[in-house]
Amino acid sequence: MGKFVINGGNRLNGTVKISGAKNAAVALLPAVLLSDGVCRIENIPAISDTAMAVSILQSLGADVKYIDKHTVEIDPRRVNSFTVAKELSEKMRASSYFLGALLGRFCHARVAPPGGCDFGVRPIDQHIKGFQALGANVTIESGQVDAKAEHLTGAAVYLDKVSVGATINIMLAAVKARGLTVIDHAAREPHIVDLANFLNSMGAQIMGAGTDVIKIHGVEHLYGVSYSVIPDQIEAGTYMVAAAMTGGCVTIDNVIPKHLESISAKLCEIGAVVEEFDESVKITAPNTVKSGIVNTMPHPGFPTDMQPQITALLSVADGTSFVNENVWDNRFQYVDQLNLMGSDIQVDGKVAIIKGVRNLEGHEVKSTDLRAGAALVIAGLGAKGTTVVDNVKYIERGYENIVEKLTLLGADIKRID
Ligand code: EPZ
Repeated sequence: MGKFVINGGNRLNGTVKISGAKNAAVALLPAVLLSDGVCRIENIPAISDTAMAVSILQSLGADVKYIDKHTVEIDPRRVNSFTVAKELSEKMRASSYFLGALLGRFCHARVAPPGGCDFGVRPIDQHIKGFQALGANVTIESGQVDAKAEHLTGAAVYLDKVSVGATINIMLAAVKARGLTVIDHAAREPHIVDLANFLNSMGAQIMGAGTDVIKIHGVEHLYGVSYSVIPDQIEAGTYMVAAAMTGGCVTIDNVIPKHLESISAKLCEIGAVVEEFDESVKITAPNTVKSGIVNTMPHPGFPTDMQPQITALLSVADGTSFVNENVWDNRFQYVDQLNLMGSDIQVDGKVAIIKGVRNLEGHEVKSTDLRAGAALVIAGLGAKGTTVVDNVKYIERGYENIVEKLTLLGADIKRID
């Protein structure tokens, strides 16, 4: 299973290079199915989620050639199946994107309900609402979602909830539908803009990505292109918080500062200094951060995927902080593990009340999901003594070379099996 052993207390200093965005890459890879030619995708993070997405493409019949660990050439022309094997799709939330991509290509898709991190129910009713609006008949039988249409016709879809996955999936299904599709109340995350840019470079006609109204004029053909994945703003934010946890001074390289604005603003609010450059940000942290209030919101608000990390940091702030989780129903499961390390956090429904303590103590803890795992690593970096984080496979789903990157910054962290 793999564990990280962390001896806390080292200040993090130096420069860390951010990898491509996981949540963009896992959307771009299925989108290749819509192309009539070979696509070359660069800056893919070398993590298990992207490896899984490539495996699914291969299982469908795509020809895949790795140019290097971050660059892949995919020829989708021999894809001959619209069914994703259950044992593959259950391993990752983003496997649901193969529904939209296969429906968009074949007017038929069969994918088991997605797996992924477990922090509350992860419904796909809004995805299905979009597919039905485009003319698909969607059924769920023997654990597989089956979406089928004579043909797909553009439609107006008003999302009842801001949903990254539904926005992406409807975009994938609509891009070759006949006529105009309008997604209203759409999610605005950077990875949605990245997918729209990728599809437009293939010949799609998508407007408004990054706003809450996305218009898609269906086209007949999409062509093979080369494209580079945007940097991962959540990985970047995670290293910023790790620097703040240790009172360090770290340059986060290969980022788009605008994608980090809400994270940088919050860190400045609680006492850090963040300098922005063209493709990097530099964070200089105080010895102790101030307490604060955090409300997770869809982009451009403070990202829910940074909620566990900022909670770990606020556990040693000067004063009492409040973190309101407004996106997911049950994303504080990791708090029990932080409290084993001496934090004083109470969870009341969707609010965590965090009474800052002087320092955390190393302890054996278990990660319950990707970002919770990252939060426990951050806690270990700042704690006195040794912390052992178990279930690191969750963390390695989304953080490329996290041990090497932290070691380069001065952390004392090892991976043991
Ligand atoms: C994506 O998940 C991300 N995953 C998540 O990141 C992230 O937390 C989330 O967006 C929000 O930003 C990927 O991109 C692979 P949603 P997704 O649909 O698409 C409800 C990580 O750590 N909802 O935006 O599944 C849902 O229950 C992962 O990288 C419905 O009710 O999230 C949630 O409360 C964890 N019906 C809210 O909307 C639906 O049909 C937002 O979900 C869909 C969603």
